[in-house]
Amino acid sequence: MRGDGPYIIDSEGKRYLDGSGGPGVSCLGHSHPAVIKALRTQAETLAYAWTGFFTNEPMESLADLLAELAPASLTHALFVSSGSAAVEAALKLARQYFVEKGEPERTKFISRRASYHGNTLGALGVSGHTLRRALYAPLLAETELISPCYPYRHQREDEAPEQYGERAALELERAIVSAGPDTVAAFIAETIVGATAGAVVPAPSYFRTIRGICDRYGVLLILDEVLCGMGRTGTFYAFEQEGVVPDIVTLAKGLGAGYQPIGALIVSETIVEAVRHGSGKLRHGQTYMGHAVACATGLAVVRAILDEDLLAKVQRMGEALADRLKDTFGDHLHVGEIRGRGLLWALELVRDRATKAPFDPKHQLYARVRREALRAGLLCYPGGGTADGERGDHVLLAPPYNVEAHHLDELVEKLELAITRALNGLL
Ligand SMILES: Cc1ncc(COP(=O)(O)O)c(C=O)c1O
Repeated sequence: MRGDGPYIIDSEGKRYLDGSGGPGVSCLGHSHPAVIKALRTQAETLAYAWTGFFTNEPMESLADLLAELAPASLTHALFVSSGSAAVEAALKLARQYFVEKGEPERTKFISRRASYHGNTLGALGVSGHTLRRALYAPLLAETELISPCYPYRHQREDEAPEQYGERAALELERAIVSAGPDTVAAFIAETIVGATAGAVVPAPSYFRTIRGICDRYGVLLILDEVLCGMGRTGTFYAFEQEGVVPDIVTLAKGLGAGYQPIGALIVSETIVEAVRHGSGKLRHGQTYMGHAVACATGLAVVRAILDEDLLAKVQRMGEALADRLKDTFGDHLHVGEIRGRGLLWALELVRDRATKAPFDPKHQLYARVRREALRAGLLCYPGGGTADGERGDHVLLAPPYNVEAHHLDELVEKLELAITRALNGLL
């Protein structure tokens, strides 16, 4: 197998257009010369030196750059090896922060149904994805789950988007009050929901109301941008478009762009200061934290995004993709909603557009779409359980930022073919 720009070519020479970067990873395609050069050069210079002994230059430079790109209050970064590890570290840091502050009773986390934050036990514990949790439920720490902000399914007909956003956010306040405000450490949410429900963009005032509630009760806001960050939505951090700044933001997937496994958390000065003036040291560590080759790769990815003006390209190509999706699927009988932002888009598939009734999950429509897309030479990221954790199907699209208009034509054409074939026999 090999990569060629936005294509993956299998061992038999068949070309697949990577319309989703696998699960939202390969944001620069599969053969970016500057990124490959940076990782090769770092491997030749120094592949690994344990952060217990040494810092390393790419780690320092990447931390500086990510902090520079973030609002002023987010000042420090920590690098791990995956999105799950970033979420895990964020949860532990939230705990440590409150212990350092003399509030050790703040031990609870609140998150949302239909969310996904990773597959390690801590990260899965705060994930609301019913199907991924089920087997491990007895092992997971208790987490209060509130409703997602999911306008297509939860906004009432008599509600304006802002009203709905506020109503959805107020569930957090009720959850904090019922848990006991002094016992809640953090609320964690994906700024734009990715894998579980498919590019669900929050209602306009949702995150501003959430931020106000967190501040009122001294609860940390952790935004998980493992899938939607790194420029995917047209701004470097997705939260920039929501008018809020979190206390911790997690990144992964697009940071290594598939060239290296790397995750990160960017943390507020307030949290770092509490640790600095308290015990003085982070009580968390893993062997591969701050891995030099991974950080050099991440640095090259961020520089490529900036040097190649890819945020503007994501916005431009995002609009072009949205137009093509709306032209092709806008009147489709089984496409309930076309939604997204930047180059993160999804189709929610329904049996009946009027009632929004999903297909029977026994058909596993999402898996049929994945299979047919592969057959058509397209990689996309379909998922099930969209509507309520068990029923519903969507297809997530996350093409590389350096995609061209003709790739978008090809993507939508192949997707239409895949969906038509997947629906064949179900109707
Ligand atoms: C929002 C979000 N957080 C965390 C994760 C976990 O990342 P990883 O699979 O790299 O551990 C994912 C993976 O899909 C994700 O989408």
